[in-house]
Amino acid sequence: MRVKKEAGGNLVIWSESPAETEELGKILGGILLPGDLFFLSGDLGSGKTLLVRGVTLGLASTETATSPTFALIHRYEGELPLYHLDLYRLAGAEDLAPLALEEMMEEEAAFMIEWGDPAKEVLADTYMEIEFTRGEQAEERILAFHPVGERYRKINHSLWLALEKEQTTGK
Ligand SMILES: Nc1ncnc2c1ncn2[C@@H]1O[C@H](COP(=O)(O)OP(=O)(O)OP(=O)(O)O)[C@@H](O)[C@H]1O
Ligand SMILES: [Mg+2]
Repeated sequence: MRVKKEAGGNLVIWSESPAETEELGKILGGILLPGDLFFLSGDLGSGKTLLVRGVTLGLASTETATSPTFALIHRYEGELPLYHLDLYRLAGAEDLAPLALEEMMEEEAAFMIEWGDPAKEVLADTYMEIEFTRGEQAEERILAFHPVGERYRKINHSLWLALEKEQTTGK
């Protein structure tokens, strides 16, 4: 895993395998606090769900994340509950109302949303956007963490410290 700090508080992380993406999620899980909100964007198969799976491991959830097949929303019980949403099959913003997302957001939990663009405006004005892209190698993924708001810049800083430490201890 390679990590680079960019202008504007952005953090770019290169993952070279599914295991590395999962490990990154696990580290991220250890940093999360109630109310933290993440939007995960990027192509099909770019690693969004795998990252969430790592987060559930980091939160010591009683169950680990897989792609939520039928339900758009899945809640993982753990030290901090995690809501994992995959809104890929949402037809449009008009279908959001029945999901009662505002109510969900009132819970002491963390939230990670795949394909969440229709929900972005209605949920919060501060959040992290993680943009997933594929690299040149088959198992290379590039994760760009774009923080919106102070809390999310802080998460990037914590993440950077944690990853730097990993790199220097050669773990
Ligand atoms: N470095 C990597 N990080 C994450 N996944 C990787 C990596 N290299 C290969 N893969 C593979 O890519 C796939 C990622 O699947 P995943 O379900 O996480 O994607 P996704 O972004 O959630 O897709 P979707 O939009 O369909 O939900 C898995 O099959 C995984 O094994
Ligand atoms: Mg997915």
